[in-house]
Amino acid sequence: MKPRLIVSRQIPPAVAARIRAEFDCPWPEGRDMTADDVIAALTQTNADALMLTSHLKFGAEIIARLPATVKIAATCSVGFEHIDVAAAKARGLPVTNTPDVLTDCTADLTFMLILAACRRAHEYDGIMRAGWRRGYGLGEMLGLKVSGKRLGILGLGRIGQAVAARARGFGMQILYSHPRRLPPEQEHGATYFASFDEMLPHCDILTLHARSGPETAGIMDAGKFSRLPKGAVFVNAARGNLVDEDALLAALTSGHLFAAGLDVFNNEPAFDLRFAALDNVFLVPHMGSATVETRNAMGMRALDNIQAVLAGKPPIDPLWS
Ligand code: GLV
Repeated sequence: MKPRLIVSRQIPPAVAARIRAEFDCPWPEGRDMTADDVIAALTQTNADALMLTSHLKFGAEIIARLPATVKIAATCSVGFEHIDVAAAKARGLPVTNTPDVLTDCTADLTFMLILAACRRAHEYDGIMRAGWRRGYGLGEMLGLKVSGKRLGILGLGRIGQAVAARARGFGMQILYSHPRRLPPEQEHGATYFASFDEMLPHCDILTLHARSGPETAGIMDAGKFSRLPKGAVFVNAARGNLVDEDALLAALTSGHLFAAGLDVFNNEPAFDLRFAALDNVFLVPHMGSATVETRNAMGMRALDNIQAVLAGKPPIDPLWS
């Protein structure tokens, strides 16, 4: 008999194909389910496992309502702030995420944001779509050079390091702030700042890659934006709640920031539409990992975790131990 699985959101076809082969699952291609739908589906099917994504708030309340048959909940995301890990641990329920496999694509997308914000991608695209008919003079519609600039990185973990590797290809000087200094083989010559405040005045471009949590919530407030040099560029592909969005909007409209590139927002998907009214912001609907290769890899990694636990082995990517 195949193990029984519920998938709480649409997933790529290759992942659905593996689910069809290895699991008994009523909707192998996934469905967009509410918490109530998930509980009902798990209960009706006596499911062994749940595969979820960050759209599902997997808090203490839903964990308490899980049927006893459920032996693992695997999220298809590296972030896990939607999961109450303490409540899962208290229940003895293994919960897992999908680290590593999305590092490259998230770093690639970060670079897209850096380039697009500095080189006015949104405005240039708009000009072309409006039917470009007048050539620009040498002093018009100028962006900022990316190569050789000073890039500040808040959080030099996996994704931060992958961004730094790309930035070295652009000849950028890398500065970073992190809870602790990294060993030289991970620093690759980057300059460490124990104080985030002290790093800010040295950043031509600042990109956030810190973990979301109580200690980082709203870390980019008005005071921090004001410490960036005038004309700096701000990029966030980490989490929206790291940023005080009123302060960011003020820094963008006052001209203190040249531009921003944003993949994440405080309120998703109902993001603050004031950003959409600004020409100097390049906007992406939280798509850091959204490539065929990476979304497949995330799905496979979640299934590997599920299969490991159902086979009585330890999870590959446990969120508690
Ligand atoms: C993306 O934001 C993720 O956490 O996987």
